[in-house]
Amino acid sequence: RPPLRVALAGIGVVGGGVVRLLEANRELIARRAGRPIEIVALSARDRHKDRGVDLSAYRWEDDMGALVAADDIDVVVEMVGGADGPALTLARQALGAGKALVTANKAMIAHHGIDLARLAEEKDTPLKYEAAVAGGIPVIKAIREGASANEIARVYGILNGTCNYILTLMEREGASFADALAAAQAEGYAEADPTFDVDGVDAAHKLSILAALCFGTRLDIGAVAATGIRDLIAADIREAEALGHRVRLIGMAERDPAKGGALYQHVQPCLVPADHPLAYVPGALNAVVAEGNFVGRLFFEGAGAGAGPTASAIVADIIDIARDEYGPAFAMPVSALDEAPVADPGAR
Ligand code: HSE
Repeated sequence: RPPLRVALAGIGVVGGGVVRLLEANRELIARRAGRPIEIVALSARDRHKDRGVDLSAYRWEDDMGALVAADDIDVVVEMVGGADGPALTLARQALGAGKALVTANKAMIAHHGIDLARLAEEKDTPLKYEAAVAGGIPVIKAIREGASANEIARVYGILNGTCNYILTLMEREGASFADALAAAQAEGYAEADPTFDVDGVDAAHKLSILAALCFGTRLDIGAVAATGIRDLIAADIREAEALGHRVRLIGMAERDPAKGGALYQHVQPCLVPADHPLAYVPGALNAVVAEGNFVGRLFFEGAGAGAGPTASAIVADIIDIARDEYGPAFAMPVSALDEAPVADPGAR
């Protein structure tokens, strides 16, 4: 089969990782995909920034719109970031032009996922976002495909690596919140605006995406109640430990059959019993638990941030597209997604 021709938009830490992965595993990926996957163009704000990878062999487009207009591009990979602005413009243009879209952008999917999924359906083209939730953990595929026969009772987990890294450092080294945040930023885990991490917004984005997928509901980021970790102090962590618990930022979504299937979605620091698997998720790792009515409890753990893991998820999406393996973005057509009644988490 002819090569699948890919354009990368927004070349930062993750974009550099995608280039490195596609180059390093080129032969294996071609065998698995049934055809070569070729990067044909790149676009980013600063062409000359050092990304630790040689990009000189690739065509460069200063205008991202050129990636959409080009006839020799099948897939646009959006790594620009931000819920709106250039990322959303690019996503709409790419899908509107009938190109496949792969995105790592949880904010954009959380806010505009339904509209983008509708556009993808209209154009009969793939919209893939594995990297948007829990980085390298293939949790979107696992739920969308592996658990697709199940009613899911609840989904929950550690969805922000930065917060988990901060909490782990505070716990193990007695670090202050500020020092632990600086260390997470130095490791490259944090969002461009780290308030998204520490205030639970990033986890809320990911939770809303998981909830739509797990419950077949319309994605509704406005219904997630989020509290972050910025007010935690070292003494909170020590007291939790003295009580046999660890503090973890947990996102949880569940439907309440007693309240007409109302959907609870909240992100908040929780006391996790020290013998619970979520208490053992260290550093910037993420973990997701989903409970299905036939499969039982599924537990996924892995790197939720970083160039390699995020690139791994992005390239897996590209391979699916190369194989023509893709279905509706949220596991069912947009018209079949429910408007779930929203529950007030405070009223529980
Ligand atoms: N800032 C995010 C995190 C990166 O810390 O989990 C991955 O979405």
